[in-house]
Amino acid sequence: MVSKRHETRQKRPVNRETFIEPWPEAGLIAVGSPADPEPSLCIESGMVTEMDGRLVADFDLIDHFVAQRGIDLAVAESAMATPSRDIARMLVDINVTRDQVLSVTRGCTAAKLVDIVSEMTVLEMMMGLTKMRARRTPANQAHVTNRKEHPALLAADAAEAALRGFREIETTVGVSRYAPLNALAILVGSQVGNGGVLTQCSVEEATNLRLGFRGLTTYSETLSVYGTERAFVDGDDTPWSKAFLASAYASRGVKTRFTSGTGSEALMGHANGQSMLYLEARCLLVTRGAGSQGTQNGSISCIALPESLPEGVRAVLAENLIAMMLGLEVASGNDALASHSEMRKSAKLMLQFIPGTDFITSGYGSIPRYDNMFGGGNFDTTELDDWYVIQRDMRVDGGIHPIRDEEVLQARQRGARAIQAIFDAFDFAEISDAEVDAAVTAFSSEDVPDRDRIADIRAARMLLDGPITIVEVIRTLAQAGFTDLAVNLLEMQRQRVIGDYLQTSGIFAADAPGNYRVISALTDANDYRGPGTGYLVDGRRWKQLQALPQAWDPQQFVRDLDCDTCDPWLQEIGPAAEGSRAEVVVAIGPAFGIGIQHALSGLDLRDVLDAMLQGIADEGLPARIIRVHATSDCAFIGHAGAQLSGSGVAIGIQSKGTTVIHQRDLAPLENLELFSMAPNLDLQSYTQIGRNAARYAQHKPTTPAPVRIDNTARLRLIVQTTLLHRRETEMVEPDRRPTELRRLGV
Ligand code: 5AD
Ligand code: CA
Repeated sequence: MVSKRHETRQKRPVNRETFIEPWPEAGLIAVGSPADPEPSLCIESGMVTEMDGRLVADFDLIDHFVAQRGIDLAVAESAMATPSRDIARMLVDINVTRDQVLSVTRGCTAAKLVDIVSEMTVLEMMMGLTKMRARRTPANQAHVTNRKEHPALLAADAAEAALRGFREIETTVGVSRYAPLNALAILVGSQVGNGGVLTQCSVEEATNLRLGFRGLTTYSETLSVYGTERAFVDGDDTPWSKAFLASAYASRGVKTRFTSGTGSEALMGHANGQSMLYLEARCLLVTRGAGSQGTQNGSISCIALPESLPEGVRAVLAENLIAMMLGLEVASGNDALASHSEMRKSAKLMLQFIPGTDFITSGYGSIPRYDNMFGGGNFDTTELDDWYVIQRDMRVDGGIHPIRDEEVLQARQRGARAIQAIFDAFDFAEISDAEVDAAVTAFSSEDVPDRDRIADIRAARMLLDGPITIVEVIRTLAQAGFTDLAVNLLEMQRQRVIGDYLQTSGIFAADAPGNYRVISALTDANDYRGPGTGYLVDGRRWKQLQALPQAWDPQQFVRDLDCDTCDPWLQEIGPAAEGSRAEVVVAIGPAFGIGIQHALSGLDLRDVLDAMLQGIADEGLPARIIRVHATSDCAFIGHAGAQLSGSGVAIGIQSKGTTVIHQRDLAPLENLELFSMAPNLDLQSYTQIGRNAARYAQHKPTTPAPVRIDNTARLRLIVQTTLLHRRETEMVEPDRRPTELRRLGV
């Protein structure tokens, strides 16, 4: 036997995911594997002799590297001697500064770091993120890719992403030889506006490095590290080779962060039976030991694996926090598709979104999911408004801000035109005006023409192997009238020489082209110390986050009600007398047909009134129209009408369309029928209400009028309800007796 409810739940998006029980031997366990070691550290004459239960003789490569470079031995003994719970409490204690926490966590082993966060609930870890993230100002990173590797579309999309506020933009390729062109397209596009956005093209490491050397990229986060030796060595790497690579990037002023995250070792079959979080803590000690300023973690591409396990999402938050406890910049995941369920996806996002991280996502797909070459992505361009609304709801800065579409189109146009000019000057395969136009308004790459791929790849070679350099790109932009872009690109190259943005968590803010300011853990240190401190969403930023283009002015709505006047169609003929014949009174609210002309449903109140009169006439009764002045309450309007009705039956209607059928001997808040959801009433309903009232008046058997059921009506229209009811209530004259009216013009 199976219940229909169960059957329905089975079909929910959340049940398209895989949930498993932990299997520690396979590394399929988020935290607390039996094979995870207890924290320990022995230091003899400045050398680690034992770490997390393992003697130096048994160390693997990672242990050696961490022991030599990952732990600050000067503070390690006291840090390891401090109870984990005490350190966990320091993380949430507003009276303990970030620096004070760092001075302890700097000396912790991987098992100790895990032990500390294991004392914490997700809420406490979120508080930890707020205090411990390196940069005070949160930011966000975008993915900009497309299936056709169309340069005009890439440039337009990068321009748009920059305008929306993404401070880093990442692209990648379907066909690897495109890399230099894609890198160039987003580099140029991203500098539309005030500039200063960092860009990268994620490709195989040798090419990636060359792209950086040639000035085509300004950051790199392709340096993956793993928590077990086998996983590391399988990728032909060691912690030392990664450290060397990181220095190579730094030598040319390319900002670098490592990538790691729960689940990768299990996925690669080399988890040593240890938990995902423990192995990730090792990765983070390697990252710090290699001198990287930061990490992209939060499971990243593996997110579905921890999410299949109990407390997987908690472990992912914990890994973000551990990274911060090591002083690293954190781009905190939320980039790869994390769930089929919108609810689960949002719930997980909130763990980083609310406290804020250096980059809330390691890549928000600001393009359609169809075009996201990073495997589809967790969020895409269609969900930007959701993000904006949540920022506004919570007064939280998620790193981007709403923009009017006219501005978006302008920026896209400029990005696409700039890359067109470069292709033209370099004699690359032409980007036609038609391609530019298509790229500006495109939804996806399906809306832009195919390119000559052979020609584009030839062009890409010229960028990577010479003779063209970034200097020619800058000169071309200047000559083609894109002075602001040239200034921005030149400044970006200059900043690489200065190198200040290589400090932890460096990004640029720019208030004019070329006018870059480094925002980093040095210049914008996170100084959170409890309420009223740290990053506050205030002033201009809060205005910006509130300004949804789709938000409207309620006062204008009210002014429009005034403009909505038409020729009077109800004539007042004097005080309403008590009737004596069989009739139905239609009692209308104070604003009906004067201050308000349309019901919430949008129906013209003339049609509404006529429909009810028609229904009454259909049942062979006369009707009288009476205006109730003393109240705007539907029940009381109906009740007042019923007192004056010869039959004792009246219809009461508010100007927003809410309707009641009332009878003289009923208490005001009782009724014969109530239609409280005005937006669900159509003209047929009003006619039926008229008929029913007339049938009650004649004591005929009556079935309640059916109405459409739309449970979203209140959600959609509660503001309009409030405004209309406010208008009606304004027109109440408490001491005025009901008046009788005549319908004009029929
Ligand atoms: N651990 C290590 N590297 C990862 N990447 C994605 N997820 C993880 C993870 N959990 C790597 C990809 C790519 C880079 C962008 O990030 O393999 O090289
Ligand atoms: Ca990324």
